[in-house]
Amino acid sequence: MTKQRRILVTSALPYANGQIHLGHMVEHIQTDIWVRFQKARGHECYYVCADDTHGTPVMLAAQKQGLTPEAMIVQVRENHLADFSGFGIGYDNYYSTHSPENQQLSHSIYRALKANDKIACRTIEQLFDPEKNMFLPDRFVKGECPKCHTHDQYGDNCEVCGATYSPTELINPYSAVSGATPVLKQSEHYFFKLGDCADFLKQWTAGESKLANGHIQPHLQPQALNKMNEWLKDDQLSDWDISRDAPYFGFEIPDAPNKYFYVWLDAPIGYMASFKNLCSRLDMNFEEWFAPDTETEMYHFIGKDILYFHALFWPATLKFANLREPTGVFAHGFLTVDGQKMSKSRGTFITARSYLDGGLNPEWMRYYLAAKLNSKIEDLDLNLNDFIARVNSDLVGKYINIAARAAGFIHKRFDGRLLSVSDSALLTQLQAQSEAIALNYEAREYGRALRDIMALADAVNEYVDANKPWELAKEPQEADRLHQVCSELINAFRILTVYLSPVLPQLALQVAEFLNIAPLMWSDSTLVLPEGHVIKPYHHLMQRIEPKQVEALVAANKQSMAASAPEPVAATALTYEPVATEASFDDFMKIDMRVARVLTCEKVEGSKKLLKFTVDLGFEERTIFSGIAASYPEPDKLVGRMVIAVVNFAPRKMAKFGLSEGMIMSAAGADQLFLLDVDSGAQPGMKVG
Ligand code: MSP
Ligand code: ZN
Repeated sequence: MTKQRRILVTSALPYANGQIHLGHMVEHIQTDIWVRFQKARGHECYYVCADDTHGTPVMLAAQKQGLTPEAMIVQVRENHLADFSGFGIGYDNYYSTHSPENQQLSHSIYRALKANDKIACRTIEQLFDPEKNMFLPDRFVKGECPKCHTHDQYGDNCEVCGATYSPTELINPYSAVSGATPVLKQSEHYFFKLGDCADFLKQWTAGESKLANGHIQPHLQPQALNKMNEWLKDDQLSDWDISRDAPYFGFEIPDAPNKYFYVWLDAPIGYMASFKNLCSRLDMNFEEWFAPDTETEMYHFIGKDILYFHALFWPATLKFANLREPTGVFAHGFLTVDGQKMSKSRGTFITARSYLDGGLNPEWMRYYLAAKLNSKIEDLDLNLNDFIARVNSDLVGKYINIAARAAGFIHKRFDGRLLSVSDSALLTQLQAQSEAIALNYEAREYGRALRDIMALADAVNEYVDANKPWELAKEPQEADRLHQVCSELINAFRILTVYLSPVLPQLALQVAEFLNIAPLMWSDSTLVLPEGHVIKPYHHLMQRIEPKQVEALVAANKQSMAASAPEPVAATALTYEPVATEASFDDFMKIDMRVARVLTCEKVEGSKKLLKFTVDLGFEERTIFSGIAASYPEPDKLVGRMVIAVVNFAPRKMAKFGLSEGMIMSAAGADQLFLLDVDSGAQPGMKVG
């Protein structure tokens, strides 16, 4: 028995202003498999995560929904947790960065950094939105690209020519929040003196940890180290701006009124806070895990886009706050679907919720992604046809089928009782692979692990074909042989289940139930079931994927997209209406348009075109019919959003459906209508003009 390890594992904290999609699932499935593997090996391992709740985007998203950020993040966390649980992700704690533990830890870490002379204060100039009275993060300033002159580009880089620049270089900049022209304004900011940490970081990034069991763990993957060396060479590290001015949703900086920690300061501290919360629940010693000389291990699973934060900022923060550093940072690549970046208009930006609600088995996806995962920072592709083929042929065809082929005979012929299989060459062959497969899981080479497991499943199926139980069953004198072969097959199935259990935890539990045994641990792979053990009747353990389920999934993601925000029509597809005849200002003033909030919205029985809205106009509620059903196939998704309505038309009878008390405005494309929106802050009843 190897020495028991003590391991803390994290996945990156998802932002609290977005839905969980299959890209997130790649990471949490990758982490969950590793954690389940460590637990199955008997190690003391904890898996924590949380929602990343602070920052400007979260603040603005809450405003847009008419909620306080505090209220919004509670709701979002519940949704996130439900999505992750639906995919079998087994956190020991899923917390929030907006927690008392995180505030206290952020404060104490900041104070320690200050005491170690790692905090500086400087005045900087930044773009400021004079209407919203707020400083604008780069992503919230838009304007003309200084290089290629494309309009509507973000403040940090151009999506058309790829140029990177600072927001002050944009031509004709405007605030993406209010549309106002930003002005330059000075403000005092706090900086983490990262430049001072270069020596430490050069050492740390190239370094390794020696584990309690003697294993050597490099801190970074080779590709990640190369990347960091690029950043670190020539001492190019600039100090890190860790403060933001009010209004900001976050933690106030001690002794700095109206200054808040930048979200990326308190986010990784959120790993600690989540663990601290767990420790107090389990009555464990939290400090021991973060002491600089601790023997415990800490690993962060992250995407390649946030390496900089985890491989530079975070170790430096920990080091100069006198805490332990990560044992390893494990970065993965990005998920593409059918070879392309996930796309909302193609329906391949697949949310976790749509997958679960579509009734697809989450373990299909766990299996498929695991088969594509390795220890490198490589993008991985979800090919939807390959997904169907692999799950059906490998998982169902090769593995599940073994149980299906043997269990019936054991029940019908032998009362569910097994024979001794202690001298089976087949089982010895399976057991011999136990440590090799374990090494692949340990090294995050899940693709290799699954390939080896499926090769064993092939060997078992060859054994079935060589022994033909269905023919043995026809010869009464072969009863013993039939009993022997099927007992071996059930044991083989059990061993394969141990090997697959980190990937398929739900299925592994069902198998344990069927085999009438305790949940499987890794060491169970070296044992066999005793003579006379009785298994339960077999019920089919896993369905095959029907291609139409995957088609429906893609369609569902296309639809929800249309409901929330239709994508722009390509300019070439537009034919322009001629400009209408001249109107006077008085003509215009006759039309009373107001901001309205959608209270309910539903399809109208018997009409393909109409949606029935009730809207809040501030001064009253009204029912309005609008002929936009084809453009918004999921009307309930419109509830809560703002629209613009004409409110002084005479009420109009809509055939047999009822009275319409106004008109909801939309822009007309060739074959799609687009509802008008209004910037956040506008209230129902405000006059438009
Ligand atoms: N909130 C930060 C992380 C803070 S950690 C202290 C953040 N959130 S995120 O929601 O944008 O992303 C969370 C994780 O999901 C990141 O590790 C990111 O790389 C990963 N992914 C997001 N989209 C992805 C794909 N398409 N494919 C794989 N992983 C992706 O960043
Ligand atoms: Zn450009």
